[in-house]
Amino acid sequence: ESDMVTFSAPVNIAIIKYWGKSCQKLNLPMNSSLSLNLNQDHLQAKTTIATSSTFIKDRIWLNGKEQDVEGNTRLQACLKEIRRLARLQAVKRNEDVHRVTRCSQKVHISSRNNFPTAAGLASSAAGYAALVAALGQLYRVDGDLSGVARCGSGSACRSMLGGFVEWVKGGKSDGTDSIAQQFVGEEHWPELRVLIVVTSAQTKAVGSTEGMQRSVETSALLQHRVDNVVPDRMKALTDAILNKDFSAFAEICMKESNQLHAVCQDTFPPLRYLNNVSEQIIRFVHAYNEHCSDTRVAYTFDAGPNAFLFVLERHLSEVASLIYKIFGPATDNATDFFRGERFKAY
Ligand code: DP6
Repeated sequence: ESDMVTFSAPVNIAIIKYWGKSCQKLNLPMNSSLSLNLNQDHLQAKTTIATSSTFIKDRIWLNGKEQDVEGNTRLQACLKEIRRLARLQAVKRNEDVHRVTRCSQKVHISSRNNFPTAAGLASSAAGYAALVAALGQLYRVDGDLSGVARCGSGSACRSMLGGFVEWVKGGKSDGTDSIAQQFVGEEHWPELRVLIVVTSAQTKAVGSTEGMQRSVETSALLQHRVDNVVPDRMKALTDAILNKDFSAFAEICMKESNQLHAVCQDTFPPLRYLNNVSEQIIRFVHAYNEHCSDTRVAYTFDAGPNAFLFVLERHLSEVASLIYKIFGPATDNATDFFRGERFKAY
C-alpha cells in the first residue's frame, strides 16, 4: 500500500524571543515566546512525503540533496513520536491490524524552501513544521501536533499555525503542555508589513541550539530576563497587538531583539550574530523614527545578521526605498533583498 501527501508551513519571526531551554531533550523553553508568521505566498517550506510497504528505510532529501536520517536525532524524535501517536489513535479507533502496522511503514521525505537558501533565511522551523504536518496527515494523526514539531526544533512549533502565534512554555516535565497557540489571525492586522534585509548570506558560526545552551550555562542576564522581563513584555505585546498600537509594538519588538543580543554578549565566550550592517540598520531605524517624530519602523534580529523590519503599509514604500538606497549596495547580494508586503516578501 502506498500514499503521498504534501504540506507547507510558514516562516515565523519571533517578536518575544525563545532563547534557553529547561529541557534539552524535549526542547522545552525557559520562557514563552510569540511570533508573527509570514504569509506563505513567498516564504514557505514545502514537504512531500511518500510511504509504501516496499520502502526498506526512511530517507530524506532537503532541496533535492539526500541527507542522513539515522544520525539525525531531531528527525528521529519527530518520526518516533508521530508513529507512536498514530498507533495509539489507530488502536483507539479500533482499526484493523493492517491499518495499525501501516503506522510503522517507512517514508521518503522531500523538503524544499521556496526562497533561496543562499539568502541565509533557510529556517529549519518552517521545514520541521511542514514535515510534521505532512506526517500527521499521512499517518492520520488527529489533534495538536505542535508538540511534535517542537521536538524537531523548538521554534518550529510556532510555524504550525498562521498569524500571531504564542508558544506557551507550559509547566509539565513531559512537555505535553508546551505547545503553540494562535493568538490572533493575520487578518487582525493587515496593515502590518515586514521587510527583510539580507545583510549576509553566510551561515552562522554558532547555531541557535548550541548558542542558547552556552547562554543557559554562563549568562546571568538570561535568568534575569526569564524571571523579570519576559512575562510583563508578553502581556504588553499582546495588548499592543490587540489594540494595533504600532509604536507600543515597535518598542517591545526592538527591546526584545536588543535583549537577546545583550544575552549573547553576556554569554561566555560571547556570541555575536549581528554584523556591521545590522548595527547600521539599528542606528538608521532610531534616527529615522526620531526624524519622523513618530515610530514608523521596528527591527528584530534572530541568531543571525539579517534584519526583519516592521512597518505599517502606508509607510512601506518610503521605508523600503530608503533602506534600499542606503543599504542595498552594502549587502552581500543586493538581489537577495526582499521587499515585504503584508506578512510576505515579493
Ligand atoms: C533566536 O528553535 O532554532 O530564532 O530548539 O535548538 O532548534 P532549537 O532552536 P531554534 O532557536 C530559535 C532561536 C531564535 C529565537 C526564536 O525563534 O524565538
